[in-house]
Amino acid sequence: MSDNRGVKLGVLVSGNGTNLQAIIDAIESGDLSARVACVISNKGEAFALERARKHGIPAIHLPYKGFDSREAYDAALVKILQEHGVELVILAGFMRILTPVIIDAFHNRIMNIHPALLPAFPGLDAQKQALDYGVKVSGCTVHFVDAGCDTGPIIIQAPVPVENDDTETTLSERIHKEEHQIYPKAIQLFAEGRLSVAGRRVIISS
Ligand code: GRF
Repeated sequence: MSDNRGVKLGVLVSGNGTNLQAIIDAIESGDLSARVACVISNKGEAFALERARKHGIPAIHLPYKGFDSREAYDAALVKILQEHGVELVILAGFMRILTPVIIDAFHNRIMNIHPALLPAFPGLDAQKQALDYGVKVSGCTVHFVDAGCDTGPIIIQAPVPVENDDTETTLSERIHKEEHQIYPKAIQLFAEGRLSVAGRRVIISS
């Protein structure tokens, strides 16, 4: 499936898609040996779909409405991903919890990015959680996805200092900038075959 144009990505989105854009940009600048085989959104209005179309990438709206269960929805996702020959699934602001149907179909081949230094502040509103707690350093984490909520083995993290006058918006903006750096890097490590999972640890070979 992988060819000289790199590992085939299927990117799942629900919103703006700045991480998707960072991945596309890294591919186009030659920093990332991958190609985006398809972008799938559960939200039809997601701007990420526009970004995909602009780059000639198949952009698919798969609404949850009409499916009887989360498992049935995930089976439909798996079907589309497989039809596009996807080797690595990238969650980039996809606002749905995945079931074992997709997690097992792509075992250790699903990555997520979270806007905090896991295991701190999992789940929603991570930046607000960090501010409310009063940490001096937050950041972002790329990890493989397992059945838990933001619990999978960690691939790369980047720290972001919290400033005295930070609001959720300013902290989120600075974290986002780091996300755009580390997500393409994590995918490139996968593309180079340098990631292996040993229990909770991801070993990065040189
Ligand atoms: C990011 O903050 C990411 O950490 C979280 O969802 C957000 C997606 O942002 N999982 P964008 O749509 O890529 O701009």
